[in-house]
This record gives sequence, structure tokens and C-alpha cells, in this order.
Amino acid sequence: MERVLEPELMEDLEQVFAYAKADFEQPHKKFVQRIKTLVKDPSFSGKALDLGCGPGDISRRFAKVFPLCKIDAIDGSKPMIDYGINTTNPDLQTRLNFIHGKLPEAKLPEQNYDVIFSNSLLHHLPDPQILWHVVKKHSTSGTRIAIMDLLRPGRNYMAESLVEMYATNEPEILKRDFYHSLLAAFTIEEIKKQLKQAELSLTVEQIGDRHVFISGIADQH
Ligand SMILES: C[S@@+](CC[C@H](N)C(=O)[O-])C[C@H]1O[C@@H](n2cnc3c(N)ncnc32)[C@H](O)[C@@H]1O
Repeated sequence: MERVLEPELMEDLEQVFAYAKADFEQPHKKFVQRIKTLVKDPSFSGKALDLGCGPGDISRRFAKVFPLCKIDAIDGSKPMIDYGINTTNPDLQTRLNFIHGKLPEAKLPEQNYDVIFSNSLLHHLPDPQILWHVVKKHSTSGTRIAIMDLLRPGRNYMAESLVEMYATNEPEILKRDFYHSLLAAFTIEEIKKQLKQAELSLTVEQIGDRHVFISGIADQH
């Protein structure tokens, strides 16, 4: 099945609210657990970057797991960033900095980060190299990189089944977005090619029935 692009930024208010209120407990919890395994040090006190942070659920989870770290969380959608700011405890905002900016043009506060993570941004990008370029530009030797995204199923009916399986009780707008996201996602083989082209040596693994996890530790480049 060919990739079908979906709108890059999530700027519609109804869409933002439906996404922010959706139940992502399981995938987000598992993603943060995987990042924790990669980071290893529970007293990690470095700088982390969340690319395409949306309403900030994963950034907040990460901040709670690593109470000494600082996070820059960026998204190109103003309503997403506003939602993140309005729902994050002011105390937490002293170390969780929401930034409105579209990649790759947006300027980030730091040149290098110790941890870079991103969930579900890759499939929104018309050109996937945008993500790999930003990851490369802002990593240095030792940076932990953890990216999770959806995988494109082989057939439309498989995408429909996944929507029914995981979003059956969600609003129509969220079901629609989930379906379109599955169609816009990449396959494992496509992601491996992207990484080769970007000269990024990361591990690509399928996790569960609909996600891919791309991770590793950056070399000097
Ligand atoms: C499906 S949401 C994922 C949000 C969050 N990472 C999560 O897992 O809950 C994808 C987000 O990427 C943002 N996005 C898409 N293209 C972007 C770009 N070029 N620069 C920054 N953000 C972008 C969208 O606005 C949207 O908020």
C-alpha cells in the first residue's frame, strides 16, 4: 500500500482537544519505559529534547521519571503548545520548556542534547529526512536517541481494524486522524533506508502490532 500524506501540523482545535484527551496510557507509558532503559541513569540531570511534542503528555511523563533533567519540547502547532502550557503545573514548567516552532527551521535553545525523543512526528512529515536531520544536528557523541512511530499496514482494511481495535470508544475525529496516520506512516524497510541516507546508525524494531521503535546512542559526527 502506497503512503498517503496527511496534513503536517495538527492545528484544528477540535482535533487538538480530541488528541490531548485520548487514552494513550499504554503506548506512552511503554515508550517512556524504553527511554528509561536507554538512559539507564535514574539520576540523569542533563538536557532532553522532545520533537513534535503535541500536548506534552510524553514530556511530562519523562520529566517525572527524571526529576533532575531539563526538557525543551517543540511543536509547530500553536494550539498544541498552548494546550501543553495550560495543562502543565507551573513548577514543572521551570524545567519543561514548551516551544512553538516548525522543524527544521525553528531554532532550538541548545546546540546539543543528551537525550532526543519523539513520538508520532515522523509520519506527519512530508519529507522524513527533516526528523533525521534535526536529530543529527542536535546530537553529539553519547546522545540517547529514541523515536517511536506508527507502522503503515499492508492493506486499508488492516488500518480500519487497528482503528476499531484501539480507538473504538474515541470521538470520530480521532478515529479519522488515526486512520490517516496509519496510511501516512512508513514501513520498517523505508525507515531503514531513511537512516542509511541520513548516515545514522540506529536500531529499528517493530514493537507490538502497530509501532516501530528506533533507538541508539549517537557517535561523534
Ligand atoms: C501525532 S502528534 C504527536 C504528539 C506527541 N508527540 C505525542 O506523542 O502525544 C504529531 C505532532 O507533530 C507536530 N508536527 C508535525 N510536523 C511538525 C514540524 N515540521 N515541526 C514541529 N512539529 C510538527 C504536529 O503539530 C503534532 O502536534
